[in-house]
Amino acid sequence: MNALQLTDGEFRALAARVTDLAADYLRGLADTRAYPQVSGEDVAHAFDTPLPEAGLRAGAFDALRDVLALSRAPTPRFWGYVLGSGEPVAALADLLTSVLNQNVTAWRSAPAAVAIERQVVRALATAVGCDGFTGSLCGGGSMANLMGLAMAREAKLPANEAGARVGVVYASSEVHMSIPKAVALRGLGRENLRLVPVDRQYRVNVELLRAAVAADRAAGLEPLAVVASAGTVNTGAIDPLADIAAMCREQRLWLHVDGAYGALAALTVPEQFAGLDAADSLSLDAHKWLYQPLDCGMLLFRDRAAARAAFSFTGDYARSIACDPLEAFAFFDESLELSRRFRALKLWLSLRYHGLGAFRASIRADLQHAQQLAHLVSGNAALELLAPVALSAVCFRYRQGASAAETDQLNAAILRRVVERGRVYLSNATLREGFALRACFVNHRTTPAEVAEIVPEVLAAARELRGAI
Ligand SMILES: Cc1ncc(COP(=O)(O)O)c(C=O)c1O
Repeated sequence: MNALQLTDGEFRALAARVTDLAADYLRGLADTRAYPQVSGEDVAHAFDTPLPEAGLRAGAFDALRDVLALSRAPTPRFWGYVLGSGEPVAALADLLTSVLNQNVTAWRSAPAAVAIERQVVRALATAVGCDGFTGSLCGGGSMANLMGLAMAREAKLPANEAGARVGVVYASSEVHMSIPKAVALRGLGRENLRLVPVDRQYRVNVELLRAAVAADRAAGLEPLAVVASAGTVNTGAIDPLADIAAMCREQRLWLHVDGAYGALAALTVPEQFAGLDAADSLSLDAHKWLYQPLDCGMLLFRDRAAARAAFSFTGDYARSIACDPLEAFAFFDESLELSRRFRALKLWLSLRYHGLGAFRASIRADLQHAQQLAHLVSGNAALELLAPVALSAVCFRYRQGASAAETDQLNAAILRRVVERGRVYLSNATLREGFALRACFVNHRTTPAEVAEIVPEVLAAARELRGAI
């Protein structure tokens, strides 16, 4: 027997151990600290053991308790960044995904996986109002944005053969950092990304956007694409998609919508996303607002030929010899990736287990939690709301501070103290007014009772800091 083989009994025993560990972990989540009380050195030390030459067998699994204890837990009180909560049916599917070990390159390598991914991607496109779009799953919003801009460039200024020429990309000043990164990686140069100012609601100012395009044309430059945000990372603002789409049509620009944070809320509040279906490409992140375990990003597009123009470059060893269009299908013709994990299994199983209605309800609950927090902040004289709440991100701060710089410093210290206290987890944003505390609700475990803990925690942290001065 190969030294790596497990017996049937060993696998069953280890799997039972892992599922027990996972079930205990899930059962304890409500009382788990929102952040473990450890230093970088503690964590490095915990895992700083040499790899054994002779296997530890089941003893290797003992250390999993430390891994769980030293991880930032997906508690009901985690609202940092834009991070979904990890739906457990999907987690079970992930185990099977690894057991099956399908390489979802093409139909011939993974028939069921390819069929399921194509089906779930199309179904989600329809569910967010983009009927007829197709696409593929990928590592996350950053990868989807990179691929969206690759398609834009190839469609408007083909570069795959002769190399990149300068084209200008437009986005709001609130756009996610993955867009400047993608512009750089596409060889367009970050100097050719125009960050257009936003209005009071943090949505791109379409008049200024138009003016920027006109100014570039007048200067002899080549406008290429607009990236609209359907949920900015800081405040959840949704750019005026329909107006931007009309301008893109008129100016013959590619429209990529970064919906990695917000666009899945179209399942629940489609009226806020009018114009989404006018995108040429659209990034979604099911590991954000569809609660999937990482990773589960998605790029949708309306025109498969544009995806093929950007990504198809097939070596002879990979060329399909099938004639049937379903059997000849290859994701690598329409995406950057070749070897790909069977990400669709978790998404498909989780969506089928709970039903779309449960996801719509959970997104609605997140939206309500954001309104609840905004209301609690507005009703407290010590706090102030710093941005309108378009979706589920709430930006606010503690008011005191003699100067703007002092207020920023105080709020940064409050955030550190809130995280140290371990009851709730918030992150931060920088807005016009300065440093903001930020809670982003994309967490299916949160209830109104937990939301009600945020203001007291922030005030307690502020009191502790004052006491320490
Ligand atoms: C608006 C937006 N776009 C893109 C991304 C990048 O997504 P990912 O972290 O999955 O790469 C994020 C992440 O928070 C985001 O909020």
